[in-house]
Amino acid sequence: MEIIQISRPDSPLRGQISAPADKSITHRALLFGALNSRATHILNPSRSADCLATANLLQSLGYRLLAEGNELTLLPPELPSEPPSTPRSEPLWIDCHNSGTTARMSLGLLSATSGVFRLTGDDSLRKRPMERAAAPLRLLGATVQTSNGTMPITIHGNGELKGYRGAPIPVASAQVWTALALAGARSQAGVILRQTTPMRDHSARMMQHLGLPLSIANDVATIQPATLDAEIFITIPGDLSGAAFLVAAAVLVPGSHLVISNVGLNPTRIAFLQALRGMGAQVQWAIEGEVSNEPCGSITAEYSPKMHGIELDPTNPNSPPIASIAEMMDELPLLALVAARAKGTTVVRGAAELRVKESDRISQTAAVLRELGGEIEELEDGFRITGVQELEGGCNIDHAGDHRICMMAGVAGLITNQPIEIPNPSVAEVSFPRFWEVLAGVGEGNVECRMSNRVVPK
Ligand code: S3P
Repeated sequence: MEIIQISRPDSPLRGQISAPADKSITHRALLFGALNSRATHILNPSRSADCLATANLLQSLGYRLLAEGNELTLLPPELPSEPPSTPRSEPLWIDCHNSGTTARMSLGLLSATSGVFRLTGDDSLRKRPMERAAAPLRLLGATVQTSNGTMPITIHGNGELKGYRGAPIPVASAQVWTALALAGARSQAGVILRQTTPMRDHSARMMQHLGLPLSIANDVATIQPATLDAEIFITIPGDLSGAAFLVAAAVLVPGSHLVISNVGLNPTRIAFLQALRGMGAQVQWAIEGEVSNEPCGSITAEYSPKMHGIELDPTNPNSPPIASIAEMMDELPLLALVAARAKGTTVVRGAAELRVKESDRISQTAAVLRELGGEIEELEDGFRITGVQELEGGCNIDHAGDHRICMMAGVAGLITNQPIEIPNPSVAEVSFPRFWEVLAGVGEGNVECRMSNRVVPK
Protein backbone atom coordinates (compact mmCIF):
# COMPACT_ATOMS: atom_id res chain seq x y z
CA MET A 1 0.00 0.00 0.00
CA GLU A 2 1.24 3.46 -0.81
CA ILE A 3 2.19 5.71 2.08
CA ILE A 4 2.85 9.42 1.86
CA GLN A 5 5.13 11.21 4.28
CA ILE A 6 4.49 14.88 4.97
CA SER A 7 6.91 17.14 6.74
CA ARG A 8 7.08 20.81 7.64
CA PRO A 9 7.92 23.09 4.72
CA ASP A 10 11.22 24.94 5.13
CA SER A 11 9.70 28.26 4.08
CA PRO A 12 6.21 29.84 3.93
CA LEU A 13 3.46 28.95 1.47
CA ARG A 14 3.10 31.91 -0.86
CA GLY A 15 1.57 32.64 -4.23
CA GLN A 16 -1.61 32.30 -6.25
CA ILE A 17 -3.35 29.02 -6.91
CA SER A 18 -6.64 27.79 -8.42
CA ALA A 19 -9.08 25.62 -6.53
CA PRO A 20 -10.13 22.25 -8.04
CA ALA A 21 -13.48 22.33 -9.88
CA ASP A 22 -16.56 22.12 -7.67
CA LYS A 23 -17.72 18.56 -7.07
CA SER A 24 -21.26 19.41 -5.93
CA ILE A 25 -21.95 21.60 -8.96
CA THR A 26 -20.45 19.06 -11.41
CA HIS A 27 -22.78 16.32 -10.06
CA ARG A 28 -25.70 18.68 -10.67
CA ALA A 29 -24.54 19.70 -14.15
CA LEU A 30 -24.48 16.00 -15.09
CA LEU A 31 -27.81 15.06 -13.50
CA PHE A 32 -29.81 18.12 -14.60
CA GLY A 33 -28.07 17.81 -17.99
CA ALA A 34 -29.58 14.31 -18.14
CA LEU A 35 -33.01 15.97 -18.39
CA ASN A 36 -31.91 17.68 -21.61
CA SER A 37 -32.71 16.14 -24.98
CA ARG A 38 -29.86 18.09 -26.61
CA ALA A 39 -26.17 18.58 -25.82
CA THR A 40 -25.09 19.86 -22.38
CA HIS A 41 -21.55 21.26 -22.41
CA ILE A 42 -19.86 21.26 -19.01
CA LEU A 43 -16.80 23.50 -18.88
CA ASN A 44 -14.17 22.85 -16.19
CA PRO A 45 -15.88 19.74 -14.74
CA SER A 46 -14.58 18.16 -11.54
CA ARG A 47 -12.72 14.97 -12.43
CA SER A 48 -13.01 13.72 -8.86
CA ALA A 49 -13.79 10.02 -8.34
CA ASP A 50 -17.23 11.00 -6.96
CA CYS A 51 -18.17 12.88 -10.13
CA LEU A 52 -16.83 10.02 -12.26
CA ALA A 53 -19.29 7.77 -10.41
CA THR A 54 -22.16 10.02 -11.56
CA ALA A 55 -20.76 10.13 -15.11
CA ASN A 56 -20.51 6.32 -15.17
CA LEU A 57 -24.06 6.00 -13.90
CA LEU A 58 -25.32 8.11 -16.81
CA GLN A 59 -23.24 6.15 -19.30
CA SER A 60 -24.72 2.90 -18.06
CA LEU A 61 -28.17 4.39 -18.80
CA GLY A 62 -27.10 5.05 -22.39
CA TYR A 63 -26.05 8.70 -22.15
CA ARG A 64 -22.93 9.61 -24.10
CA LEU A 65 -20.08 11.65 -22.64
CA LEU A 66 -17.42 13.22 -24.80
CA ALA A 67 -14.35 14.75 -23.16
CA GLU A 68 -12.27 17.30 -25.01
CA GLY A 69 -9.73 19.49 -23.24
CA ASN A 70 -11.44 21.00 -20.24
CA GLU A 71 -14.96 20.39 -21.59
CA LEU A 72 -17.27 17.45 -21.11
CA THR A 73 -20.29 17.12 -23.40
CA LEU A 74 -23.27 15.10 -22.27
CA LEU A 75 -25.56 13.77 -24.98
CA PRO A 76 -28.84 11.93 -24.42
CA PRO A 77 -29.22 8.27 -25.35
CA GLU A 78 -29.25 7.70 -29.14
CA LEU A 79 -33.04 7.80 -29.59
CA PRO A 80 -34.24 10.85 -27.68
CA SER A 81 -37.89 10.04 -28.34
CA GLU A 82 -37.47 6.71 -26.51
CA PRO A 83 -37.03 6.47 -22.74
CA PRO A 84 -33.28 6.34 -21.95
CA SER A 85 -33.53 2.65 -21.21
CA THR A 86 -36.24 0.28 -22.33
CA PRO A 87 -38.07 -1.48 -19.49
CA ARG A 88 -36.32 -4.63 -18.39
CA SER A 89 -37.03 -7.13 -15.69
CA GLU A 90 -33.38 -7.91 -14.80
CA PRO A 91 -32.04 -5.02 -12.72
CA LEU A 92 -29.23 -2.92 -14.09
CA TRP A 93 -26.59 -2.84 -11.34
CA ILE A 94 -24.98 0.55 -10.82
CA ASP A 95 -21.96 1.06 -8.55
CA CYS A 96 -21.86 4.50 -6.91
CA HIS A 97 -18.45 3.69 -5.34
CA ASN A 98 -17.86 6.13 -2.42
CA SER A 99 -20.30 8.80 -3.56
CA GLY A 100 -23.32 9.50 -1.36
CA THR A 101 -24.17 12.43 -3.63
CA THR A 102 -24.36 10.15 -6.69
CA ALA A 103 -26.47 7.60 -4.83
CA ARG A 104 -29.02 9.93 -3.28
CA MET A 105 -29.40 12.43 -6.09
CA SER A 106 -29.60 9.82 -8.85
CA LEU A 107 -32.51 8.14 -7.06
CA GLY A 108 -34.63 11.05 -8.32
CA LEU A 109 -33.59 10.57 -11.94
CA LEU A 110 -33.82 6.77 -11.84
CA SER A 111 -37.29 6.84 -10.22
CA ALA A 112 -38.50 8.72 -13.28
CA THR A 113 -36.66 6.55 -15.85
CA SER A 114 -38.25 3.36 -17.18
CA GLY A 115 -36.36 0.27 -16.05
CA VAL A 116 -35.24 -1.64 -12.98
CA PHE A 117 -32.05 -0.44 -11.33
CA ARG A 118 -30.06 -1.63 -8.35
CA LEU A 119 -27.64 0.78 -6.69
CA THR A 120 -24.70 -0.30 -4.63
CA GLY A 121 -21.42 1.21 -3.46
CA ASP A 122 -18.20 0.60 -1.56
CA ASP A 123 -18.00 -0.55 2.09
CA SER A 124 -18.42 3.01 3.37
CA LEU A 125 -21.35 3.95 1.14
CA ARG A 126 -23.20 0.70 1.87
CA LYS A 127 -23.39 1.75 5.53
CA ARG A 128 -24.86 5.20 4.88
CA PRO A 129 -28.55 6.12 5.34
CA MET A 130 -30.59 6.14 2.13
CA GLU A 131 -34.20 6.28 3.37
CA ARG A 132 -33.92 10.06 3.71
CA ALA A 133 -34.10 10.20 -0.12
CA ALA A 134 -36.14 7.06 -0.77
CA ALA A 135 -39.04 7.88 1.60
CA PRO A 136 -39.99 11.31 0.16
CA LEU A 137 -39.57 9.99 -3.39
CA ARG A 138 -42.31 7.45 -2.63
CA LEU A 139 -44.69 10.39 -2.09
CA LEU A 140 -44.17 11.22 -5.78
CA GLY A 141 -45.14 7.66 -6.71
CA ALA A 142 -41.60 6.25 -6.92
CA THR A 143 -40.97 2.57 -6.25
CA VAL A 144 -37.72 2.58 -4.31
CA GLN A 145 -36.73 -0.17 -1.91
CA THR A 146 -33.73 0.11 0.41
CA SER A 147 -32.15 -2.77 2.33
CA ASN A 148 -32.96 -1.83 5.93
CA GLY A 149 -32.43 1.81 5.05
CA THR A 150 -29.14 1.25 3.23
CA MET A 151 -27.81 -0.17 -0.05
CA PRO A 152 -28.44 -2.08 -2.21
CA ILE A 153 -31.42 -0.02 -3.35
CA THR A 154 -33.82 -1.33 -5.97
CA ILE A 155 -35.68 1.19 -8.11
CA HIS A 156 -38.54 0.23 -10.39
CA GLY A 157 -38.28 3.32 -12.56
CA ASN A 158 -41.43 4.75 -13.99
CA GLY A 159 -41.56 7.01 -17.03
CA GLU A 160 -44.87 8.37 -15.73
CA LEU A 161 -44.15 9.37 -12.17
CA LYS A 162 -47.21 11.18 -10.78
CA GLY A 163 -45.47 13.89 -8.72
CA TYR A 164 -46.78 15.49 -5.53
CA ARG A 165 -48.77 18.69 -5.02
CA GLY A 166 -49.83 18.23 -1.38
CA ALA A 167 -48.39 20.12 1.59
CA PRO A 168 -44.69 20.93 0.97
CA ILE A 169 -42.41 17.95 1.64
CA PRO A 170 -39.97 18.87 4.46
CA VAL A 171 -36.34 18.40 3.35
CA ALA A 172 -33.17 18.74 5.47
CA SER A 173 -30.52 17.76 2.92
CA ALA A 174 -29.31 19.33 -0.32
CA GLN A 175 -28.86 15.90 -1.85
CA VAL A 176 -32.45 14.94 -1.05
CA TRP A 177 -33.76 18.31 -2.29
CA THR A 178 -31.99 17.61 -5.58
CA ALA A 179 -33.33 14.05 -5.87
CA LEU A 180 -36.88 15.36 -5.39
CA ALA A 181 -36.34 18.24 -7.83
CA LEU A 182 -35.07 15.85 -10.52
CA ALA A 183 -38.01 13.50 -10.01
CA GLY A 184 -40.47 16.41 -9.80
CA ALA A 185 -39.25 17.95 -13.05
CA ARG A 186 -39.80 14.60 -14.77
CA SER A 187 -43.20 13.89 -13.16
CA GLN A 188 -46.76 14.70 -14.21
CA ALA A 189 -47.58 17.14 -11.40
CA GLY A 190 -44.20 18.45 -10.21
CA VAL A 191 -43.42 18.76 -6.52
CA ILE A 192 -43.44 21.28 -3.66
CA LEU A 193 -40.53 21.22 -1.17
CA ARG A 194 -39.93 22.98 2.12
CA GLN A 195 -36.33 23.47 3.19
CA THR A 196 -36.05 22.85 6.95
CA THR A 197 -32.34 23.62 7.51
CA PRO A 198 -29.83 25.89 5.78
CA MET A 199 -28.26 24.02 2.87
CA ARG A 200 -26.31 24.62 -0.33
CA ASP A 201 -28.60 25.98 -3.06
CA HIS A 202 -26.67 24.87 -6.16
CA SER A 203 -29.60 22.89 -7.55
CA ALA A 204 -31.99 25.85 -7.48
CA ARG A 205 -29.34 28.04 -9.12
CA MET A 206 -28.67 25.36 -11.74
CA MET A 207 -32.39 25.01 -12.51
CA GLN A 208 -32.66 28.79 -12.96
CA HIS A 209 -29.57 28.78 -15.19
CA LEU A 210 -31.09 26.03 -17.36
CA GLY A 211 -34.48 27.74 -17.52
CA LEU A 212 -36.30 24.94 -15.66
CA PRO A 213 -39.53 26.21 -14.05
CA LEU A 214 -38.92 26.78 -10.35
CA SER A 215 -40.32 29.33 -7.94
CA ILE A 216 -39.06 29.85 -4.38
CA ALA A 217 -40.79 31.81 -1.62
CA ASN A 218 -39.89 31.59 2.08
CA ASP A 219 -37.89 28.36 1.69
CA VAL A 220 -40.76 26.69 -0.19
CA ALA A 221 -39.81 25.64 -3.72
CA THR A 222 -42.38 24.75 -6.36
CA ILE A 223 -40.99 22.67 -9.19
CA GLN A 224 -43.09 22.26 -12.31
CA PRO A 225 -42.83 19.34 -14.70
CA ALA A 226 -40.62 20.37 -17.58
CA THR A 227 -38.76 19.27 -20.66
CA LEU A 228 -35.41 20.67 -21.63
CA ASP A 229 -34.56 20.93 -25.30
CA ALA A 230 -31.72 23.38 -25.85
CA GLU A 231 -27.96 23.31 -26.29
CA ILE A 232 -26.74 24.24 -22.82
CA PHE A 233 -23.41 25.50 -21.44
CA ILE A 234 -22.53 25.20 -17.75
CA THR A 235 -19.23 26.49 -16.33
CA ILE A 236 -18.10 24.97 -13.04
CA PRO A 237 -16.37 27.30 -10.53
CA GLY A 238 -13.64 26.18 -8.14
CA ASP A 239 -14.65 24.15 -5.10
CA LEU A 240 -14.71 26.01 -1.81
CA SER A 241 -14.53 22.72 0.10
CA GLY A 242 -11.29 21.90 -1.76
CA ALA A 243 -9.94 25.45 -1.39
CA ALA A 244 -10.57 25.13 2.36
CA PHE A 245 -7.52 22.82 2.73
CA LEU A 246 -5.28 25.45 1.14
CA VAL A 247 -6.83 28.20 3.27
CA ALA A 248 -6.20 26.16 6.44
CA ALA A 249 -2.61 25.46 5.34
CA ALA A 250 -2.00 29.19 4.83
CA VAL A 251 -3.40 30.26 8.21
CA LEU A 252 -1.37 27.56 10.02
CA VAL A 253 2.06 27.67 8.35
CA PRO A 254 4.20 30.61 9.61
CA GLY A 255 4.74 33.44 7.13
CA SER A 256 2.28 32.12 4.53
CA HIS A 257 0.17 34.21 2.16
CA LEU A 258 -1.95 32.43 -0.46
CA VAL A 259 -4.45 33.78 -2.96
CA ILE A 260 -6.90 31.15 -4.20
CA SER A 261 -8.59 32.27 -7.38
CA ASN A 262 -11.66 31.23 -9.43
CA VAL A 263 -13.39 29.74 -6.43
CA GLY A 264 -17.15 29.50 -5.96
CA LEU A 265 -18.28 31.91 -3.21
CA ASN A 266 -21.92 30.92 -3.03
CA PRO A 267 -23.25 32.37 0.28
CA THR A 268 -24.43 28.88 1.30
CA ARG A 269 -20.86 27.54 1.15
CA ILE A 270 -18.74 30.17 2.93
CA ALA A 271 -19.56 29.31 6.55
CA PHE A 272 -16.07 27.81 7.05
CA LEU A 273 -14.47 31.11 6.01
CA GLN A 274 -16.83 33.00 8.32
CA ALA A 275 -15.93 30.70 11.23
CA LEU A 276 -12.19 31.13 10.59
CA ARG A 277 -12.64 34.87 10.58
CA GLY A 278 -14.61 34.53 13.84
CA MET A 279 -11.50 32.80 15.27
CA GLY A 280 -9.33 35.76 14.34
CA ALA A 281 -7.84 34.21 11.19
CA GLN A 282 -6.65 36.55 8.46
CA VAL A 283 -8.94 35.42 5.69
CA GLN A 284 -10.63 37.65 3.13
CA TRP A 285 -12.76 36.84 0.14
CA ALA A 286 -14.16 38.91 -2.70
CA ILE A 287 -16.80 38.06 -5.29
CA GLU A 288 -15.44 39.08 -8.70
CA GLY A 289 -18.14 37.77 -11.02
CA GLU A 290 -20.63 35.03 -11.71
CA VAL A 291 -20.37 31.77 -13.65
CA SER A 292 -23.54 29.91 -14.58
CA ASN A 293 -25.52 31.69 -11.84
CA GLU A 294 -22.89 30.99 -9.14
CA PRO A 295 -20.88 33.82 -7.52
CA CYS A 296 -17.18 33.31 -7.96
CA GLY A 297 -14.04 35.15 -6.83
CA SER A 298 -10.87 34.83 -4.80
CA ILE A 299 -9.84 34.09 -1.23
CA THR A 300 -6.74 35.52 0.44
CA ALA A 301 -5.46 33.64 3.48
CA GLU A 302 -2.48 34.60 5.63
CA TYR A 303 -0.62 33.04 8.52
CA SER A 304 -2.69 33.83 11.60
CA PRO A 305 -0.73 33.39 14.85
CA LYS A 306 -3.40 35.01 17.03
CA MET A 307 -6.36 32.72 16.49
CA HIS A 308 -8.66 31.95 19.40
CA GLY A 309 -11.32 29.32 20.04
CA ILE A 310 -14.91 29.73 18.93
CA GLU A 311 -18.29 28.47 20.07
CA LEU A 312 -20.41 27.10 17.24
CA ASP A 313 -23.43 25.74 19.06
CA PRO A 314 -26.85 26.12 17.44
CA THR A 315 -28.35 24.39 20.51
CA ASN A 316 -27.24 27.26 22.79
CA PRO A 317 -29.29 30.45 22.33
CA ASN A 318 -26.40 32.49 23.83
CA SER A 319 -23.88 31.19 21.29
CA PRO A 320 -23.02 34.00 18.82
CA PRO A 321 -24.51 33.18 15.38
CA ILE A 322 -21.20 33.39 13.50
CA ALA A 323 -21.66 30.69 10.91
CA SER A 324 -24.15 27.96 10.06
CA ILE A 325 -22.99 24.50 11.15
CA ALA A 326 -25.09 22.80 8.43
CA GLU A 327 -23.39 24.90 5.77
CA MET A 328 -19.87 23.95 6.90
CA MET A 329 -20.48 20.27 7.65
CA ASP A 330 -17.85 19.07 5.16
CA GLU A 331 -15.23 21.47 6.55
CA LEU A 332 -15.66 20.60 10.26
CA PRO A 333 -12.73 18.11 10.47
CA LEU A 334 -10.51 20.84 9.05
CA LEU A 335 -11.93 23.42 11.44
CA ALA A 336 -11.05 20.99 14.25
CA LEU A 337 -7.42 20.97 13.11
CA VAL A 338 -7.30 24.79 13.05
CA ALA A 339 -8.95 24.86 16.50
CA ALA A 340 -6.24 22.51 17.81
CA ARG A 341 -3.74 25.34 17.22
CA ALA A 342 -5.96 28.23 18.34
CA LYS A 343 -5.79 29.68 21.85
CA GLY A 344 -8.54 28.47 24.20
CA THR A 345 -11.50 26.23 23.60
CA THR A 346 -13.60 25.58 20.51
CA VAL A 347 -17.00 23.93 20.79
CA VAL A 348 -18.92 22.54 17.83
CA ARG A 349 -22.44 21.17 18.41
CA GLY A 350 -25.40 20.35 16.18
CA ALA A 351 -23.19 18.31 13.87
CA ALA A 352 -24.49 14.77 14.47
CA GLU A 353 -24.70 14.38 10.69
CA LEU A 354 -20.90 14.00 10.75
CA ARG A 355 -21.40 10.53 12.19
CA VAL A 356 -22.93 9.24 8.95
CA LYS A 357 -20.53 10.72 6.42
CA GLU A 358 -17.85 8.69 4.57
CA SER A 359 -16.68 7.72 8.07
CA ASP A 360 -17.89 8.65 11.54
CA ARG A 361 -16.16 12.01 11.20
CA ILE A 362 -16.57 12.90 14.88
CA SER A 363 -14.70 9.80 16.08
CA GLN A 364 -12.24 9.84 13.22
CA THR A 365 -11.37 13.54 13.68
CA ALA A 366 -10.92 12.96 17.41
CA ALA A 367 -8.72 9.90 16.81
CA VAL A 368 -6.48 11.73 14.31
CA LEU A 369 -6.11 14.88 16.42
CA ARG A 370 -5.23 12.85 19.52
CA GLU A 371 -2.68 10.88 17.53
CA LEU A 372 -1.13 14.17 16.42
CA GLY A 373 -0.92 15.40 20.03
CA GLY A 374 -4.09 17.53 20.20
CA GLU A 375 -6.71 17.73 22.97
CA ILE A 376 -10.20 16.88 21.83
CA GLU A 377 -13.32 15.61 23.55
CA GLU A 378 -15.88 13.80 21.44
CA LEU A 379 -19.49 14.93 21.95
CA GLU A 380 -22.54 13.12 20.65
CA ASP A 381 -23.13 15.85 18.06
CA GLY A 382 -19.75 17.53 17.76
CA PHE A 383 -16.53 18.10 19.70
CA ARG A 384 -14.76 20.29 22.22
CA ILE A 385 -11.13 21.15 21.44
CA THR A 386 -8.54 22.86 23.58
CA GLY A 387 -5.81 24.50 21.55
CA VAL A 388 -2.19 23.43 22.16
CA GLN A 389 1.11 25.25 21.49
CA GLU A 390 2.48 22.48 19.30
CA LEU A 391 1.35 19.30 17.61
CA GLU A 392 4.00 16.61 17.91
CA GLY A 393 3.07 14.31 14.96
CA GLY A 394 5.58 11.55 14.23
CA CYS A 395 2.69 9.14 13.76
CA ASN A 396 0.91 7.06 11.18
CA ILE A 397 -2.60 8.34 10.43
CA ASP A 398 -5.74 6.20 10.28
CA HIS A 399 -8.16 8.15 8.08
CA ALA A 400 -10.55 5.19 7.63
CA GLY A 401 -10.52 5.72 3.85
CA ASP A 402 -12.28 9.07 4.26
CA HIS A 403 -11.00 11.65 1.76
CA ARG A 404 -11.64 14.72 3.93
CA ILE A 405 -9.96 13.21 7.02
CA CYS A 406 -7.02 12.12 4.85
CA MET A 407 -6.52 15.64 3.43
CA MET A 408 -6.97 17.23 6.87
CA ALA A 409 -4.12 15.01 8.06
CA GLY A 410 -2.08 16.15 5.05
CA VAL A 411 -2.46 19.77 6.15
CA ALA A 412 -1.61 18.76 9.75
CA GLY A 413 1.69 17.31 8.51
CA LEU A 414 2.74 20.83 7.46
CA ILE A 415 2.80 22.00 11.10
CA THR A 416 3.69 18.96 13.24
CA ASN A 417 7.11 18.80 14.89
CA GLN A 418 7.78 15.37 13.39
CA PRO A 419 6.79 14.21 9.89
CA ILE A 420 3.62 12.12 9.65
CA GLU A 421 2.77 9.17 7.45
CA ILE A 422 -0.54 8.77 5.66
CA PRO A 423 -1.39 5.39 4.14
CA ASN A 424 -3.51 5.13 0.98
CA PRO A 425 -3.24 8.86 0.18
CA SER A 426 -5.04 8.43 -3.15
CA VAL A 427 -8.42 8.53 -1.35
CA ALA A 428 -8.02 12.32 -1.70
CA GLU A 429 -9.01 11.82 -5.37
CA VAL A 430 -12.60 11.24 -4.22
CA SER A 431 -13.06 15.01 -4.13
CA PHE A 432 -9.70 16.68 -4.91
CA PRO A 433 -7.82 15.25 -7.90
CA ARG A 434 -4.04 15.82 -7.67
CA PHE A 435 -4.33 17.04 -4.07
CA TRP A 436 -0.80 15.98 -3.12
CA GLU A 437 0.72 17.55 -6.25
CA VAL A 438 -1.14 20.78 -5.50
CA LEU A 439 0.04 20.70 -1.88
CA ALA A 440 3.61 19.96 -2.94
CA GLY A 441 3.57 22.83 -5.42
CA VAL A 442 1.79 25.39 -3.29
CA GLY A 443 3.33 28.84 -3.11
CA GLU A 444 7.09 28.66 -3.43
CA GLY A 445 6.82 24.91 -4.00
CA ASN A 446 8.73 23.78 -0.98
CA VAL A 447 6.33 21.35 0.69
CA GLU A 448 7.77 17.89 0.81
CA CYS A 449 5.28 15.09 0.16
CA ARG A 450 7.21 11.87 -0.14
CA MET A 451 5.13 8.97 -1.43
CA SER A 452 6.64 5.53 -0.75
CA ASN A 453 10.19 6.84 -1.36
CA ARG A 454 9.08 8.93 -4.32
CA VAL A 455 8.76 12.69 -4.02
CA VAL A 456 5.40 13.80 -5.36
CA PRO A 457 6.03 15.94 -8.46
CA LYS A 458 5.11 19.61 -8.28
C1 S3P B 1 -23.85 17.78 -0.78
C2 S3P B 1 -24.61 18.09 0.30
C3 S3P B 1 -24.18 17.92 1.68
C4 S3P B 1 -22.68 17.66 1.77
C5 S3P B 1 -22.22 16.67 0.75
C6 S3P B 1 -22.51 17.17 -0.65
C7 S3P B 1 -24.38 18.06 -2.13
O1 S3P B 1 -24.88 16.85 2.29
O2 S3P B 1 -22.31 17.27 3.06
O3 S3P B 1 -20.84 16.42 0.85
O4 S3P B 1 -23.60 18.08 -3.11
O5 S3P B 1 -25.59 18.27 -2.24
P1 S3P B 1 -26.45 16.94 2.66
O6 S3P B 1 -27.22 16.52 1.48
O7 S3P B 1 -26.60 16.01 3.81
O8 S3P B 1 -26.77 18.34 3.01
